[in-house]
Amino acid sequence: MDYHMVFILIPLFISLLCLQATATGNLTSDTQALLKFAASIPHGRKLNWSLTTPVCFSWVGVTCTPDGTRVKSLRLPGIGLFGQIPADTLGNLDALEILSLRSNRLTVDLPSDVPSIPSLHSLYLQHNKLSGIVPSSLSFNLTFLDLSYNSFLGEIPFTIQNLTQLTALYLQNNSLSGSIPDFHLPKLKHLNLSYNNLSGPIPESLQNFPVEAFLGNPFLCGSPLAQCIAVPPSPPISPAPVLPIKPKRSFWKRLSTGIIITIAAGGSSILILLVIILLIWISKRRRRERSSGAPKGKGRTGGRIDKPEEYSSSAQEAEKNKLVFFEGCSYNFDLEDLLRASAEVLGKGSYGTTYKAVLEDGVTVVVKRLKEVVVGKREFEQQMEIIGRVAQHPNVVPLRSYYYSKDEKLLVFDYVPSGNFSSLLHGGRDAGRTPLDWDTRVKIVHGVARGIAHIHAQGGGKFIHGNIKASNILLTKESGSCVSEYGLAPLMSSAATPSRVVGYRAPEVIEHRKSTQKSDVYSFGVFLLELLTGKAPLQSPGRDDVVDLPRWVQSVVREEWTAEVFDVELMRYPNIEEDMVQMLQVAMQCVARTPDERPKMEDVVRMIEDVRCSNSANRQSSEEKVEG
Ligand SMILES: *[C@@H]1O[C@H](CO)[C@@H](O)[C@H](O)[C@H]1NC(C)=O
Ligand SMILES: *[C@@H]1O[C@H](CO)[C@@H](O)[C@H](O)[C@H]1NC(C)=O
Ligand SMILES: *[C@@H]1O[C@H](CO)[C@@H](O)[C@H](O)[C@H]1NC(C)=O
Ligand SMILES: *[C@@H]1O[C@H](CO)[C@@H](O)[C@H](O)[C@H]1NC(C)=O
Ligand SMILES: *[C@@H]1O[C@H](CO)[C@@H](O)[C@H](O)[C@H]1NC(C)=O
Ligand SMILES: *[C@@H]1O[C@H](CO)[C@@H](O)[C@H](O)[C@H]1NC(C)=O
Ligand SMILES: *[C@@H]1O[C@H](CO)[C@@H](O)[C@H](O)[C@H]1NC(C)=O
Repeated sequence: MDYHMVFILIPLFISLLCLQATATGNLTSDTQALLKFAASIPHGRKLNWSLTTPVCFSWVGVTCTPDGTRVKSLRLPGIGLFGQIPADTLGNLDALEILSLRSNRLTVDLPSDVPSIPSLHSLYLQHNKLSGIVPSSLSFNLTFLDLSYNSFLGEIPFTIQNLTQLTALYLQNNSLSGSIPDFHLPKLKHLNLSYNNLSGPIPESLQNFPVEAFLGNPFLCGSPLAQCIAVPPSPPISPAPVLPIKPKRSFWKRLSTGIIITIAAGGSSILILLVIILLIWISKRRRRERSSGAPKGKGRTGGRIDKPEEYSSSAQEAEKNKLVFFEGCSYNFDLEDLLRASAEVLGKGSYGTTYKAVLEDGVTVVVKRLKEVVVGKREFEQQMEIIGRVAQHPNVVPLRSYYYSKDEKLLVFDYVPSGNFSSLLHGGRDAGRTPLDWDTRVKIVHGVARGIAHIHAQGGGKFIHGNIKASNILLTKESGSCVSEYGLAPLMSSAATPSRVVGYRAPEVIEHRKSTQKSDVYSFGVFLLELLTGKAPLQSPGRDDVVDLPRWVQSVVREEWTAEVFDVELMRYPNIEEDMVQMLQVAMQCVARTPDERPKMEDVVRMIEDVRCSNSANRQSSEEKVEG
């Protein structure tokens, strides 16, 4: 079959040409390419790229390979890039893996050397004003291609079929026309072709995608959209012998002009000679073949059968290794995606290591890898059910999904980007950081109290958090703070709990290892003292300044009621002493030795709200009088 020969030989030639054309670069050539790019494209915000500073460490948007020898990613979203991406600039970054120029004002065509950088695996160009046709020479390593919200014209190139690694293809809101090519991309998980002017039947290979992938294309038809009317329902079943030849011919024509263009560009006469010989040989064979009978299109049908097999086997695999998602969760990934995501350690806690995982489609989640789980699968699942049922609340980080196997227990949470309270309070103190002001602290503490009160109201008012500490308090813009890591204590061997949490643990928990809602209140009290004093309870073991915070505060307070307990950072704010003292009293009630003396969490919320109100009332005393 000539067809197959073409597929074997053409890539060979292309790679030969490529070898000849590209010299492998280095950091110097990368730097030059970037500077040339910055110099030749207008941009709204200034890029702080300068030869006097190291590319890998201080150029905004640039990330290098771990060894610092090549530029690996370039991310310049929304910096007002304007006009055409110049050719022969970014295209020279031949170790580039990720390019994001989304949300700029790029216009005209995309130069063909950019999407074809061989190492490129993610290309984000959405929300620009790019026009022209979708480039047909694309890196075979592409896994993520987003050209949505541009003005691309013409047909979807069939070369996308070659992108065997592609997992996401976003082309929505362009002006693409013609029919959708029948590509078989085994890894494709995300597709959006909505709001173009595509027409004709949706190819069988893409019919598994939801209707939302094809919206706003009035001339498209077939599952999952309405049935096609004019087209016979099942052309692939009865392949007329004449039919396959026609598309093949035009395909062939396209192919040969493609080669000729490539050669012209390469400009090597030896290669031209070789190719001409090849062409003659192939076309001879073709003629011979055509006269010897119609080809059966075996390759294609074979491909069709292969795909479903792959699908079902991987589906079975997925069934075995399934992430369990909770209701109302909009995430759409599987274990394999998760394991393939790029991960970064966020922290090593008492229950295991926490990672930030960025999935291939850009979604970021937090994955907690539990160690020392002592309960069996059923008990684990039951506890997860309870945790998963904790209703939505702005001050609680919801558990989205979990995974249980003999060797691995994973929990998936939403990613909260602003970090945790412990690092906010204690980080950068020596480095002249911006102090954490009183209003912010009150907002945080109020959010935490509400979050815990919400957790306590779950499970018939019996649910406990079990692991309240500053590093489990996450900061958010909207609600100020939210609590994470609740409900895991029952899964863990208590002996495994390291001494670091001791500072937050109530006396009865240390003695009897039994957590209750009242022991949560104690932990919250310690957290509140931490926020007021700026001191960490039982700081890193081995250090001298280890404090049992409640006892230390009690001793200072007993001797004389001074401002000495409060965080020095708070000293600069006027008129907050009274509030601070009131808040300190709330904290002292929470850390009472006997559980019965401690208030309930909902009462704590009320007390904190009182402090907040008296605070604003002081500022607006006239209004207070009006209200009586
Ligand atoms: C980097 O590559 C350029 C040409 O591509 C070459 O002139 C230069 O010497 C190389 N530099 C290093 C440090 O290898
Ligand atoms: C450039 O900007 C980035 C991000 O704002 C910053 O991290 C980097 O230090 C800056 N580099 C220089 C040389 O100012
Ligand atoms: C394509 O990706 C694979 C796997 O990430 C990598 O090994 C290979 O070097 C890449 N190809 C190119 C041309 O960079
Ligand atoms: C990629 O696909 C296009 C169109 O199907 C084809 O012309 C080209 O030869 C393919 N390239 C390789 C290297 O397979
Ligand atoms: C995408 O196209 C649809 C239909 O024309 C339109 O309703 C929607 O606003 C567009 N989205 C954007 C971000 O332009
Ligand atoms: C959309 O495609 C149809 C034919 O498929 C054509 O008649 C129509 O003019 C196109 N509309 C636009 C806005 O290009
Ligand atoms: C595709 O994009 C359109 C328009 O922006 C959107 O309405 C639709 O929900 C998207 N489809 C999918 C599957 O995400």
